[in-house]
Amino acid sequence: MGDGHLQKPISGKEAIVEAVGLSKEFRDFWNRPKAKAVNDIDFEVYEGEVLGLLGPNGSGKSTTIKMLLGLLYPTSGSISVFGESPRSVRTKMRIGYLPEESYLYKYLTAMETLDFFGALFNLSAVERRSRSEQLLEMVGLSHVRNRPVGEFSKGMARRIGLAQAMINDPDLLILDEPTSGLDPIGCKEIKDLIIFLQKRGKTVIVSSHLLSDVEDISNRVLILYGGNIRAAGTLNELLTISTSSRITTPLLEPGITEKLIKILRENLKGENFVIDHPRRSLEDFFLDVVNRARTESVKTYGAEGGGEIAGYLKSEQKPQDILKGLADRKEAKVEAPVVRKEVPEEEAEVESKEKLDKLVAHEQEKKKEPAEVKSAEDLDEANKKLSHLVSRKDDRHN
Ligand SMILES: Nc1ncnc2c1ncn2[C@@H]1O[C@H](COP(=O)(O)OP(=O)(O)OP(=O)(O)O)[C@@H](O)[C@H]1O
Ligand SMILES: [Mg+2]
Repeated sequence: MGDGHLQKPISGKEAIVEAVGLSKEFRDFWNRPKAKAVNDIDFEVYEGEVLGLLGPNGSGKSTTIKMLLGLLYPTSGSISVFGESPRSVRTKMRIGYLPEESYLYKYLTAMETLDFFGALFNLSAVERRSRSEQLLEMVGLSHVRNRPVGEFSKGMARRIGLAQAMINDPDLLILDEPTSGLDPIGCKEIKDLIIFLQKRGKTVIVSSHLLSDVEDISNRVLILYGGNIRAAGTLNELLTISTSSRITTPLLEPGITEKLIKILRENLKGENFVIDHPRRSLEDFFLDVVNRARTESVKTYGAEGGGEIAGYLKSEQKPQDILKGLADRKEAKVEAPVVRKEVPEEEAEVESKEKLDKLVAHEQEKKKEPAEVKSAEDLDEANKKLSHLVSRKDDRHN
């Protein structure tokens, strides 16, 4: 078994993901073992937490995520999401997923992309339009809504991918390297958004190589290596150095510092100690510099204010309540993008792509709104909007 016993349940919270002895071995054409990507791991994800999934390249993060989504079958062990198989349509209705590489249909515009994914969740045309508009505003892409996503920069593609992951107002959001390719402002906004969603009761699983980002937003982390869980716990459990003490005070007068040094020398019996000034994070400093520059340009050029968190994401109403009726009605009919038989991942992706192509062709047959032609605006414009998005201070979660 893995090191699942290191984890502590968050008191009173329900485990919405439960993996027991989960393993995935990739085999070649002749059924010879190619890679043990995930090796007998146990873990749980609790409702309302942000779980950071960490590990070096090839340690099994994406494979674990794909099993969580029902895109890959475990070789052995089991995984349940919301008490059901990850492949159940009802479960999929409640999950939002940002893949590590965006699977976007390059000829669809940003608006059509969101509309397309909204249609997969059986949202009405009116709801799709309303949500798409709110999401585009939220991720700072409103002004490029009618540009094909194939033209988007890496960061813009990440933003539309994130919007797409939230079209169904998911209860569980799974983000595979959400901040990769984003500038520091985009990273900060995604982190703020994750914290905001968590405050609304959503559960988020986020994999990333950017440890400081994960540290800023996660309640708990799992560290994978070679397909095994090597460490798991809350940030407090894992990171607190209980063999040292730290006191942070307002700036001390020189006289007080001298007295303190005297007391410490008398009591620490020759052990070293340090009295210095705390340092800000580079991220904080960078954001300050950029925000100050922006404020100046607002004065000079009157740049417009940006969007807000999509209104429907703020709703207290549980999405499963909204979707329940639809799910009940459609469960038999809905063809969710699920791989139903065990196939190598490459095949699974081809199968999904074929479905996507078919669905896109179908969508394109439908009459489209006339596209407003807007000039191409650069990512800085998107950033400007995004910077106003989430003004909330991010609390550190422990
Ligand atoms: N479709 C596949 N076929 C064969 N081997 C695979 C496949 N997908 C993943 N693997 C292997 O499984 C292991 C884990 O890969 P995985 O993509 O889960 O790692 P990761 O932790 O997400 O890495 P990264 O940080 O680079 O994204 C690697 O050895 C990889 O080569
Ligand atoms: Mg990966």
